[in-house]
Amino acid sequence: MSNIVIIGAQWGDEGKGKIVDMLAPDMDAVVRFQGGHNAGHTVSVGGKTYKLKLIPSGILHKDKICLVGNGVVLDPREFCAEMDALIAEGLDLGPGRLKISRKCHLILPYHQALDQARETSKGDDKIGTTGRGIGPCYEDKAARVGIRACDLEDFDLLRGKIHSALKEKNALLAGLYGQKSLDPETLAAKLKPVAARLAPYLTDVSEELSRIEARGGRIMFEGAQGVHLDIDHGTYPFVTSSNTVAGNAAAGGGIAHSSLHRVVGVAKAYTTRVGSGAFPTELTEETGRYIQQKGAEIGTVTGRKRRCGWLDAVVLRESVRLCGVNDFALTKLDVLSGLPEVKICTEYVYRGRRILYPPQAESGLAEVEPVYESLPGWHENLSAVRVFSDLPEAARNYIARLEALTGVPVGIVSVGANREQTVMRGLKSPQPPSAG
Ligand code: IMP
Repeated sequence: MSNIVIIGAQWGDEGKGKIVDMLAPDMDAVVRFQGGHNAGHTVSVGGKTYKLKLIPSGILHKDKICLVGNGVVLDPREFCAEMDALIAEGLDLGPGRLKISRKCHLILPYHQALDQARETSKGDDKIGTTGRGIGPCYEDKAARVGIRACDLEDFDLLRGKIHSALKEKNALLAGLYGQKSLDPETLAAKLKPVAARLAPYLTDVSEELSRIEARGGRIMFEGAQGVHLDIDHGTYPFVTSSNTVAGNAAAGGGIAHSSLHRVVGVAKAYTTRVGSGAFPTELTEETGRYIQQKGAEIGTVTGRKRRCGWLDAVVLRESVRLCGVNDFALTKLDVLSGLPEVKICTEYVYRGRRILYPPQAESGLAEVEPVYESLPGWHENLSAVRVFSDLPEAARNYIARLEALTGVPVGIVSVGANREQTVMRGLKSPQPPSAG
């Protein structure tokens, strides 16, 4: 049986939540492997819209096990709030099906305070983070001073670690950024009931996954953000603080890389980006506003308007190279209906040369000139289409062009927010590892 990794092939917000939810019926478990509650996965089912941040999108299927892997940074209070919202909708969120790695690093209030203070102090140079404390928490992990979910199981230890952490964090918050210091005892006291509530959910995710594999179960790894926000491979420094590429599903989930059998790259039929950073195909005029409004391109987590632009095959090609994408799931194709022409960026001109992959230098992407191919648009409303051959010819040609430019087939086309508004062409079947 094959496991699947779902990644965002652009700058996040590609609609991964819907694709995870759609593919979940064939899987046994869904694992988040990086990021935190900077992610916002929206899933619409039966007239209801669920906004998920930390809990894997497989949670809407009651027989699926959902796991939060060690690569995730977890805000324990946010996690509880998200659980409460889903329980209020009648979902079962018991520890039998929702599990958290003891190795997850915790986002605590000082991480958020530092994230926001730093952004404010940067002024126009800000990254445009979600302000959720993601970067400062991963910094502590790398500096080996982080507090992990397993520390919730020993309150005295947790309290001591909070005291140590705040010695440094308060010096920064108050001394450098002129913010209020945080009181370690108040923070520890607030965490006490949260720790008690989450304790039954803590587990060894790696062991759980190996058990699922041993009984022939299938695992889906749910990425957050997108490849071009990857800390190593994205548009640094305007990136998030984790590895968003498919390979990190192994490290961040706690499984061997040989267990990652197939990669589905989720890409919007156009491109969006939130926060700062270069965006070669950005449309700042009427067409951009049309896409922004028709696609309701507003961030799930921060409520910020997303920047919109044409589909960029250079960006997708790089994602294919970095992640070994087997198939694309193309989302929001319906949003492009009504445009007289649609454009795809096929390559860039960079310092007088044509290039097929993004330049590496920090300022490189801001310098490139996109080379466009223009294709005829279509006017038909696509939201009721369920079979590929029912798509207008112009839309099929657009997809064929994307496949030719990236060398990857489009296996799924999404034409609306609801589960059923999907055209399944079938995912390419990679060969699962042979039994011997
Ligand atoms: P951070 O992850 O909050 O540190 O933000 C760093 C950058 O990643 C900013 O440009 C954010 O807008 C962007 N970002 C973080 N999470 C998401 C997401 O889920 N979708 C889209 N952009 C994101």
